[in-house]
Amino acid sequence: MDLFEYQARDLFEAHNIPVLGGAVASTAAEAINAAATMGGKVVVKAQVKIGGRGKAGGVKLAENAEDAGVKAEAILGMDIKGHTVHKVMIAQAAPIAEEYYMAILLDRANRNFLVMASVAGGMEIEEVAHTQPEKLARVGIDPNVGISHAQAIEIVKAGQFPAEVVDQVADVLLKLWAAFVAEDATLMEINPLVKTEDGRIVALDGKVTLDDNAAFRHASHADLEDHASANPLEALAKEKHLNYVKLDGEVGIIGNGAGLVMSTLDVVAYAGEKYGVKPANFLDIGGGASAEVMANGLSIILGDPDVRSVFVNVFGGITACDAVANGIVQALEILGSAATKPIVVRLDGNNVLEGRRILNEAAHPLVQQLETMDGAAAKAAELAAK
Ligand SMILES: Nc1ncnc2c1ncn2[C@@H]1O[C@H](COP(=O)(O)OP(=O)(O)O)[C@@H](O)[C@H]1O
Ligand SMILES: [Mg+2]
Repeated sequence: MDLFEYQARDLFEAHNIPVLGGAVASTAAEAINAAATMGGKVVVKAQVKIGGRGKAGGVKLAENAEDAGVKAEAILGMDIKGHTVHKVMIAQAAPIAEEYYMAILLDRANRNFLVMASVAGGMEIEEVAHTQPEKLARVGIDPNVGISHAQAIEIVKAGQFPAEVVDQVADVLLKLWAAFVAEDATLMEINPLVKTEDGRIVALDGKVTLDDNAAFRHASHADLEDHASANPLEALAKEKHLNYVKLDGEVGIIGNGAGLVMSTLDVVAYAGEKYGVKPANFLDIGGGASAEVMANGLSIILGDPDVRSVFVNVFGGITACDAVANGIVQALEILGSAATKPIVVRLDGNNVLEGRRILNEAAHPLVQQLETMDGAAAKAAELAAK
């Protein structure tokens, strides 16, 4: 789960990483209130889960509370790279002397964590890596060992930070590491980490990704979820523990196993070219395709107003085709009149003949069977185009 900047700020504060005052607002009036409480100059910042807000006009300095209202009015509703701004953060304005960069991330390729630190912050780190690689320290961290004080100092020096801030920046790095571990994050980035004119080191922008696999250890992380912009079908699927991703086509897809579902998407996309239709979703019902799982999957797909046909593509393995066929029949019984769209089923693999027999015998008016994946994809695409 990616966090909004204001949530990252709060998390940093909870872990004693130096930040400035910040409050979130979803209307201009709230922005004025927050700025008035804070006093002085503030920065109004678009809260969208995408970088480059500054360049896109989503970060604006306000002279006073009234001006913060004007700036919030301008930023709320703005579209930044496809993300609509529903909230702004009112942040205390920092008198910036220098902008630095610091991040810790999960390095999957090397099976450890990676710290990046650079005196050249504020801009995209890819750009620094490209144009001034000598100013970017990249150091792998063994999760079993962590970062020692001496190593933190070494990293900061390698990032070419000026001598007078090395101790302070190393301290921030150690706190960031502690926060990273405590929260089970996969990314914590501060860009910019600034030196203020009076010599303090402060995190001005934070990007945090929390590891969803560790959610069970962090009851409080549930509160950080962004329900407002979550897709309602995806939210429902998550509740039912289904691996579902909404796409923007018309052919609903159900399959067992992520690999099969991925290739089903490809085959449907190809077959649909002729008709101008595409897959409407990814849905992997996994190994145990019980009637209940099938019913949950079908009901989510049939509840998608964009869906005009459904393709159920199952390769029987440990769960044999007859069990899947029974699952489909029972799912349609459970759904009753909620099932309204044509369903193309392709069964193959373990016990396929019995599976096909069960579906034939049930003779549900919405269901038709095809024997090949390509044939079934073509049929589903054709039905969606009707
Ligand atoms: N609280 C603040 N006070 C002063 N300047 C700020 C503040 N927050 C951000 N800025 C300035 O705006 C720039 C972009 O803001 P940032 O929060 O990094 O957004 P993004 O990375 O999405 O562009 C920063 O590099 C910094 O120069
Ligand atoms: Mg930034």
